[in-house]
Amino acid sequence: NEKLFANIISHAKEYGYIFQSSEIYDGLSAVYDYGQYGSQLKKNIRDFWWKSMTQLHDNIVGIDAAIFMHPTTWKASGHVDNFSDPMIDNKDSKKRYRVDHLIEGFAETLPAAENAALIAKMEQLLAADDFAGIKQLIEDNKIKCSVSGTANWTDVRQFNLMFSTEFGAVSSDNPDDNIVYLRPETAQGIFVNFLNVQKTGRMKIPFGIAQTGKAFRNEIVARQFIFRMREFEQMEMQFFVRPGTELDWYAKWKETRLQWHKDLGLPAEKLRFHDHVKLAHYANAAVDIEFDFPFGWKELEGIHSRTDYDLRRHQEFSKKKMQYFDNDLNAEGKPYGNYIPYVVETSVGLDRLFLTVLSNAYHEEEVPTAEEGKTDVRTVLRLPAKIAPIKLAVFPLTKKDGLPELAEDIIKDCRPHFACFYEEKDAIGKRYRRQDAIGTPFCVTVDHQTKEDGTVTIRNRDTLVQERIPASAVKQFIINSIA
Ligand code: GAP
Repeated sequence: NEKLFANIISHAKEYGYIFQSSEIYDGLSAVYDYGQYGSQLKKNIRDFWWKSMTQLHDNIVGIDAAIFMHPTTWKASGHVDNFSDPMIDNKDSKKRYRVDHLIEGFAETLPAAENAALIAKMEQLLAADDFAGIKQLIEDNKIKCSVSGTANWTDVRQFNLMFSTEFGAVSSDNPDDNIVYLRPETAQGIFVNFLNVQKTGRMKIPFGIAQTGKAFRNEIVARQFIFRMREFEQMEMQFFVRPGTELDWYAKWKETRLQWHKDLGLPAEKLRFHDHVKLAHYANAAVDIEFDFPFGWKELEGIHSRTDYDLRRHQEFSKKKMQYFDNDLNAEGKPYGNYIPYVVETSVGLDRLFLTVLSNAYHEEEVPTAEEGKTDVRTVLRLPAKIAPIKLAVFPLTKKDGLPELAEDIIKDCRPHFACFYEEKDAIGKRYRRQDAIGTPFCVTVDHQTKEDGTVTIRNRDTLVQERIPASAVKQFIINSIA
């Protein structure tokens, strides 16, 4: 699987999906750029999320809040005090590790039962914030630093993950006055706008606010390509409910979100729930949707019942009421109610989702060649047609005899409706392989028969079946296939 994962990473680069950031300067650790196909695939996944979370619900609306927020936001939210990971430094190599990564990495080298026992022990100690116990666990198991092989460790310490920067040019006696944070989650932009949206949108509880956008975390150890990045994108939805109903909504959103991943094209057997052992500082219930990545089962999305923690804390810190006036309680014969709503949130990393889609789509497989009985190996991205960056490639069989003009007519017909690609260089087989590697679900070839009867061959990336259809029917064929 390590080899498979390495192949996926190099494929992503070779075909314009993902590049290391600032690669000419040897890159910046855990920061990545999306190339010509990657940015389009990412946008298509984001659009799929946005449509299903906003357009398809009459009680969820979207916003786009700024990355910079008033610094008090992060005091109120608890991130200044609590948003940290326990880490440990190796005294010899001067390398810093997140303790859970260090132990998990070591556990991977053990037989399955020992591996599970060690990870369970570590989770227990983490849940109890027992740092001395964690250090003891590291020492007892003779966990070594992978670089130098030494086992000479500092104590375990907390390391805050927020990035900070200076804001404006205001001089002040207290340098802290100018410090702002790059948001470590998009959620707070929604909480501070809760009443703005509720009032201007005349929203009635239960209702949701959705948002996609960048978030930043100074991850201690950033591993596994775009799985854990320092700059990444989140797609979050905060659903505001009556106190006391939050666990019902939590159960509902768990199922809704799991189904969404299946609708996106991820196989059911690669998805599972994993309840949190240690709850975040704001939650009374929390679960991850995990995906079976090439490097094992890992968190893809978090669903959290955040209680009224965030709104209550913002009310406390801002001195502004964060309450909702519930008319319906009166209609139900209950007294009028002013309350701080409870929140159930769904939060998925767009880049991480991109990685699930990419690793699920990537296949190296034997396929028959034109020559009887011979096979060839092809690399194909079996991306669901609805999110593939290019939907249709059009090839004239040769560069002459008016075939390029006919091919371009098809492109002109289709381009306003979906992304197309035109290619006239190289043998047809080679052109097909390139589109397979990009993940283009359909290729149309214009040949001499097209000139006679107006038909073209359309080839299906996954089945390799080729059929002849009228050139004039190509547009509708693709539209039906990507719906
Ligand atoms: N508002 C809740 C929240 O931020 P989280 O579990 O810390 O919860 C939610 O993050 C999701 O964001 C994760 O499930 C993951 O998909 C994504 N995510 C978090 N940290 C990430 C990182 N360093 N790189 C890429 N994605 C990340």
